[in-house]
Amino acid sequence: MKVLILPDAGSAALRCAGILADCLGRNPAAVLGLATGETMRPVYAGLVDLHGAGRADFARATTFNLDEYVGVGPDHPASFATFMREALFDHVNLDPARAHLPRGDAADPEAEAARYEAAIVGAGGIGLQLLGIGRNGHIAFNEPTSSLGSRTRVKTLTEATRKANAPAFAPGPVPRHAITMGIATILQARACLLLATGAAKAAAVARMVEGPLGADCPATALQLHPEATVVLDEAAAQDL
Ligand code: GLP
Repeated sequence: MKVLILPDAGSAALRCAGILADCLGRNPAAVLGLATGETMRPVYAGLVDLHGAGRADFARATTFNLDEYVGVGPDHPASFATFMREALFDHVNLDPARAHLPRGDAADPEAEAARYEAAIVGAGGIGLQLLGIGRNGHIAFNEPTSSLGSRTRVKTLTEATRKANAPAFAPGPVPRHAITMGIATILQARACLLLATGAAKAAAVARMVEGPLGADCPATALQLHPEATVVLDEAAAQDL
């Protein structure tokens, strides 16, 4: 695991944007795995700027997002689909037909999860997977106790995660389930890039980087990945 510590959240996010743009530069037909969460907003803002400067061409790219809430359609304001359109997709030349997220409003969420996993394989697998981390060490919506061998499936969200994500749904209730790539799905990406910023993530980051491998901190699975890069600001790195 390569750990890069940048002075602040802005420069950490821009480093990630640069790594994604470089991936597209090397392989314009790259398959990128994308993440949501507040940590990712400045990454996508940086990518949009790089796109404007001619350094991030999405014309031939394909993207797969990590997860989506069950029961939430792509036009719901709190959906991850809406997040991605607003943060990135509406501002770059990515073909919407090649921008994939699980359909949270699918009639059969389990079948949708299986279809999504197959679509990733069908696209040739993910080249570079961008990730955030939850305060409890979750990656995507793989909450603590998730199997390290898990594939895309329906997961029940913990109360802590529902609370953390409540602002997006206020004043309504937060969904109880999500369709999420599994830990094994994520580990199959050829490279992983995890960004964590802020002191609230410091304990989870320390566990991920230095702690024992275990399902109680799903992010520790990245210790198994031969091409994992973790980008931190100093606040998120303070417990290392
Ligand atoms: C969400 C997402 C994760 C994300 C995490 C952290 O629940 N499913 O992919 O990494 O929580 O989000 P934030 O960046 O808002 O702290």
